[in-house]
Order: sequence, then C-alpha cells, then structure tokens
Amino acid sequence: MLNAISVLALAALVNGQLYGGGPEKQFSQKIDDGYNLLKHFGHLGPHTDRQSYGISRDTPAQCEVDQVIMVHRHGERYPDASDTYPQLVEALEKLYNYSDQFTSGSLEFLNTWESFLNDEAMLEQETYSGPYNGLKTAFDRGVDYRARYGHLWDGEGVPIFTSGSQRVLDTARRFGEGFFGYNYSSKAYMNIIPETEDQGANSLTPPCFVPSNVPFSIFFAPPVLASFFDAADRLNREYPGLNLTATDVKTLMNLAPYELNTRPYTPWADVFTRDEWIAYRYTFDLAFYYFAGPGSNTSAAVGSVYSNATLALLNQGPEKAGKLHFSFAHDTNITPILYALGLLVPERPLPKDYIDWTSPYKISDIMPMGGHLVLERLACNATAKYPKGSYARAVLNEAVVPFNECQNGPGFSCPLSNYTELVGGRAQALDYVSTCDVPTDYPQHLLFFWNYNKTTDFNYQKDPIGYQANLITWDGKPFKKSK
Ligand SMILES: *[C@@H]1O[C@H](CO)[C@@H](O)[C@H](O)[C@H]1NC(C)=O
Ligand SMILES: *[C@@H]1O[C@H](CO)[C@@H](O)[C@H](O)[C@H]1NC(C)=O
Ligand SMILES: *[C@@H]1O[C@H](CO)[C@@H](O)[C@H](O)[C@H]1NC(C)=O
Ligand SMILES: *[C@@H]1O[C@H](CO)[C@@H](O)[C@H](O)[C@H]1NC(C)=O
Ligand SMILES: *[C@@H]1O[C@H](CO)[C@@H](O)[C@H](O)[C@H]1NC(C)=O
Ligand SMILES: *[C@@H]1O[C@H](CO)[C@@H](O)[C@H](O)[C@H]1NC(C)=O
Ligand SMILES: *[C@@H]1O[C@H](CO)[C@@H](O)[C@H](O)[C@H]1NC(C)=O
Ligand SMILES: *[C@@H]1O[C@H](CO)[C@@H](O)[C@H](O)[C@H]1NC(C)=O
Repeated sequence: MLNAISVLALAALVNGQLYGGGPEKQFSQKIDDGYNLLKHFGHLGPHTDRQSYGISRDTPAQCEVDQVIMVHRHGERYPDASDTYPQLVEALEKLYNYSDQFTSGSLEFLNTWESFLNDEAMLEQETYSGPYNGLKTAFDRGVDYRARYGHLWDGEGVPIFTSGSQRVLDTARRFGEGFFGYNYSSKAYMNIIPETEDQGANSLTPPCFVPSNVPFSIFFAPPVLASFFDAADRLNREYPGLNLTATDVKTLMNLAPYELNTRPYTPWADVFTRDEWIAYRYTFDLAFYYFAGPGSNTSAAVGSVYSNATLALLNQGPEKAGKLHFSFAHDTNITPILYALGLLVPERPLPKDYIDWTSPYKISDIMPMGGHLVLERLACNATAKYPKGSYARAVLNEAVVPFNECQNGPGFSCPLSNYTELVGGRAQALDYVSTCDVPTDYPQHLLFFWNYNKTTDFNYQKDPIGYQANLITWDGKPFKKSK
C-alpha cells in the first residue's frame, strides 16, 4: 500500500518535472563560449579564460603546488601610437567627413558616439576605465592568485620581473598590489629587465639576430580579405559615397575590442557580421602563428630561453630557487614559449587560403590581453595509480593544457623527470644562442632569476606615465655576460 502511494507520488513528481519546469538540470545543455564575441577579437580584446579541456583547474587531491612560475602579458591597453592609432584617426575622419550624415542604419550611433581616443598620452598604456580595464585585470589576477597560491608566501621578500615597457611594468605593479596587499610596498622587489637587444639571453624579450621566414602576404588570405570587401560593400551600399575600403573595415573593426578595453559597451560590435568577426579573428591567428608561433623558424629558439631557465627553477625546487616566480612581458614573447614547450602546435601549417576550423592556434584563447602562462610544480603523495613525487603542469589563461607527449601524472600532469627530459631536450636542440646568433659579448644565459635586486625603489610610479618605458634597469645598465 505504502509502496503504491510512493509510486503515485513519484509519477506526479516526474510529470511535474516534464510539464511544469521542475528542478534545474544538473548540467546545462547550452554551451555558448564559441558565440562570445570576445573570443573573436584576437589578441586585442578584453581578457577571457581559455576554453578548457575539462581538466580541473584545482590542484589534484593528493598533491599540493609547491612552486609556481608565471609569465603574464600586460593587461588591456590603448592602441599603439605608430600604426593602429593613426589608421583609426584617418578611418574615423573619413566617416566624419561623410556629408550625408548617418541619419539611420548601422552607423547612426555616430551622431552621439564619442571617441575614447581623446588623450594621446594614454596610447600604448594600460586602460583604467570600464569593467574590462587593464589595471583592474592585473590587480584582480593578483588577488585571485593570493587566494590560490598564498600558501607559498612565507613573509619574505619576493622579486617580480618585468620587461622595461611602461604598460608591462604597470601590470606587474598592479598584480603585485593585488597579491601582496599592504605588504606590496616592502615585500615585492620590482626588477625591470630592459627590452634592449644587448640583454641577449638575459631577457624576458629575447631578440633574435637572424631573419625569420615570415611570409608578408599572410594578411591577404582570400577568405579573410573577401569578408572585409563584403563589409565595405555593405556599408557603402547603405551609405552611398562613403567609399570605405577593405582596409578601412579592418581598421574600424579594431574599435570594438579597444573600446571595450575602456568602456562597458561598444556599438562597433554590431556594425559587423559574425562572419566578418570570425575572419577578423583569423587574421590574428595567422599573424601570431607566422610571426611569433610555430610558423616562424626562430620563435621556438627564442621561447626556449624561458622554458629552459624555468626548467632549472623547477629542478632546483622551492627551497633553493624560491616558491613564487612572477614575470611580465608581451604577447609575442609568450607565444614562442608555448612553442618551445611543444604546446598547441598545429599538425599542419595554418592555411592562408581558408580558415582552419580545427586548428588549436586560436590566439584569443592563447594570448588575449592579460594572457598568462603558469607552470605549477606539484608535490604529490602516492596513490594506487601514481607514485609519490614531483610533477609539472601548464595552465594557460586558467585552463590546464596537458602535454601530448607526457600526461601520466595526476590531473594529466607530467612527472618532473619526464618534463625535464622533454623540455630540456627541446631547449638543447633549439639552442637559442647559436640559432639566433647572439653576439658573444651579450649575455648567453638568463641570469636574473638568480641574481636580482632587493630594492623596492621601482614599486611605484615616480615620473609621469611613459617616462620610464624602456629606460631603466635595476642597476641602471644591462647585465653583462657572465664569466
Ligand atoms: C601527503 O602526505 C603527508 C604525510 O602523510 C601529509 O602530511 C600531507 O598533507 C599529504 N599531502 C597532501 C597534498 O595530501
Ligand atoms: C576629410 O575632409 C578634409 C577636408 O575636406 C580633408 O582634408 C581630409 O583629407 C578628409 N579626410 C579623409 C580621411 O578623407
Ligand atoms: C567618394 O568618392 C567619390 C568619387 O570619387 C567622391 O566624389 C566623394 O567625395 C568620396 N566621398 C568621400 C566621403 O570621400
Ligand atoms: C603585512 O602587512 C601588515 C599590515 O601592514 C603587517 O601587519 C604584517 O606584519 C605584514 N607582513 C609581513 C610578513 O611583512
Ligand atoms: C629562417 O628562414 C629564413 C628565410 O628562409 C632564413 O634566412 C633563416 O636562415 C632561417 N633561420 C633559421 C634559424 O632557420
Ligand atoms: C618517463 O620517464 C620514465 C623513466 O625515465 C620512462 O620510463 C617513461 O617512459 C617516461 N614517460 C614518458 C611519458 O616520457
Ligand atoms: C639550459 O639550462 C641549463 C641548466 O640551467 C644550462 O646548463 C644550459 O646551458 C641551458 N641551455 C641553454 C640553451 O641556455
Ligand atoms: C639595486 O637597485 C638600487 C636602486 O636602483 C641601486 O641603488 C642598487 O645599487 C642596486 N643594488 C645592487 C646590488 O645592484
């Protein structure tokens, strides 16, 4: 009798679920990352987490992180002064010159829209306004990492390494404030490594002194170019006499990511179609692949400077080498590191005549503004499956990216000994100094991780924005080759 009632009650409940909404699903069936326009802004748009493979970001249960090594791109910024800004000014002027005015249609908003590019002094610098701003991105990451890695801070001073560019330095400072909180002023040692060529290997921005095989025609890939022509046609038909070119279109599309770097909303996102945004994104995938990724015959060697030096940190371990390693540089300094590590290397070159939908080389997922690569050293206890020991794993924009060649550790991490063989072997074969023909009187090794200044003199800005860019180092002159 009781059972019969339960069955009836259950039936009613099931019916309620089917027809009345009922409780929420355990798992959403809606996966909309691919539609998020931020994923189609290449390297120019606000930071987004990487689309994950589903591997937990959390440390595997039997392990703890005992050393963390991060390299972080600067956060959201204003356009560069040499190319993008003058192009934007000219394209906007063309629009403003249009005599018929935009009384309706896709550019009507221009009657009230105000440019976010009014202060030339801010070009190239971190943005500071709007919900996606670069200073906030860096500070928030610091706060987040304090929660995640705070157990590694023992109260001693910690060096922070930054390349000598104002926006990179500003990012490093904000991250440090977020991570160390009130202790930033006394416990962070800001070390500025100049971006000059005479730093050789002792650099976060290592130069290469031989030409690479960059194919300069990549931007004119037919499917991509066709989309820009289509957009120009569409707008010229809507506004006869506007005379936009495909180049104008590509330029104007830049306004969407850059405006979002300073504001919560951009009307430029709606001026162009989905197809056009996807083509736009692919131009950046191509650019990074061929200029600073697997398509360049020098980039792996350049990236191996960092992969090899951090390998030494990992093998020395937290007691000897320190537990927290935070470095800051540019997008094109970090994509070579991924290649040197053997991560996200497409099986075939990125095609220029069609969009390769299956390629892992999607730069908005690899190096958006505020992009960052973290190497974690894991100290793991034995389980039935894994022996006790040290493991390494890479986390890119908050998603674990395992090594295809080595994933036999907890959470698809790689045993440190295997990682050493893999990454050390690659670095040796890549041989930065000879491949890039580094002059013998320039540093041949990265030294600053082990030879840093304990000054707090550079923790805060003293001069006006821009004045410190590319100028200073911790002792006022480049490191010289070690004897
Ligand atoms: C590993 O085992 C040791 C000894 O039992 C224990 O103190 C430590 O907390 C364990 N670590 C983790 C991450 O479980
Ligand atoms: C806009 O109009 C001015 C005045 O006619 C002209 O000098 C300028 O070249 C025009 N700009 C563009 C981008 O067409
Ligand atoms: C577009 O081109 C036509 C024909 O060359 C010219 O008369 C017109 O001024 C141009 N419009 C703009 C906005 O430059
Ligand atoms: C961190 O700063 C707080 C507030 O000034 C201070 O009380 C604390 O002693 C500092 N901790 C260390 C390790 O310096
Ligand atoms: C890369 O390719 C360029 C152009 O083919 C060539 O000049 C250069 O020597 C190559 N560099 C390396 C390191 O292979
Ligand atoms: C890891 O190293 C061990 C010991 O050298 C070796 O037997 C094993 O094949 C390596 N595994 C991988 C995935 O490289
Ligand atoms: C890689 O690091 C090792 C150990 O620190 C060092 O001996 C070796 O010279 C480095 N290789 C390169 C190419 O810098
Ligand atoms: C560290 O930097 C400070 C400030 O620039 C400088 O005065 C000092 O000489 C440096 N220390 C060393 C050991 O080079």
